[in-house]
Amino acid sequence: MTGSTLDHDVALEWVRRWDAQQERYIADREERFRVIGDVVAHVCRDVTAPLVADLGCGPGSLTTRLRGRVGGRVVGLDADPFLLGLAKAADPEGEYEHADLTGSGWLDLVGGSWDAAVSTTALHWIAPERLAEVYRAVASRLRPGGVLVNGDHLREEQPALRTLAEHVRDERARRAGVVGNEDWRAWWEAARADERLTTVFTEEEMAAKGSGHGNGLSARQHGELLRAAGFSEVGTVWQHGDDHVLVAVR
Ligand SMILES: C[S@@+](CC[C@H](N)C(=O)[O-])C[C@H]1O[C@@H](n2cnc3c(N)ncnc32)[C@H](O)[C@@H]1O
Repeated sequence: MTGSTLDHDVALEWVRRWDAQQERYIADREERFRVIGDVVAHVCRDVTAPLVADLGCGPGSLTTRLRGRVGGRVVGLDADPFLLGLAKAADPEGEYEHADLTGSGWLDLVGGSWDAAVSTTALHWIAPERLAEVYRAVASRLRPGGVLVNGDHLREEQPALRTLAEHVRDERARRAGVVGNEDWRAWWEAARADERLTTVFTEEEMAAKGSGHGNGLSARQHGELLRAAGFSEVGTVWQHGDDHVLVAVR
């Protein structure tokens, strides 16, 4: 950060633009958020002040929505200082912490015994052997009956079905009218050209950290890693094309 403060309205504008950009790839992103909220609200139905971690929260889209839905503490964790800066300025009541999930020490940023960990379109960035460590770490913090809920594109293993799942996803995007939305690269380029942001964040902070290409794990492979990490049940509760909400129960 340069020392200048990011304006709340500017941050909100960029988070909304982020949401539209992400919908280009996930037409039913809002429904996916609601489904994740359904799961967490049910698991926390008898909990007065739930504790939830949002892994790879980006600019806080899910973190904010989930806090509105379940109350308690929803702590957003992310390694990207710019996206995290947007989250903090757009949602000043929220809790956001800088954390590299492939590093150490991040569990303690949330503290306590967790009711749930959630994640959207983020865990595919992490290599399988590191993801196994993340799953073990999350399992160590979740209370019995707590859940890890992951919304992400998961690779279909069977080739003909993979083609069909991707076709269904693309047709849904066409019907939803999101195909022409700004893409990932254009969003980052536009952000780096906005003086209201470049006066607050350094060039290094505003360098996109990844291309979004993933570890290519299928739902079955996530299931294997999750069971090995100590989760007792794993399954998909919602799916459209290759877009899944996968739930693992501690
Ligand atoms: C496509 S964005 C999704 C952000 C947000 N969950 C959403 O749905 O809008 C992926 C996010 O994962 C974060 N991420 C990737 N690898 C990470 C890691 N090792 N530790 C923490 N965050 C990571 C990125 O910084 C980015 O914010």
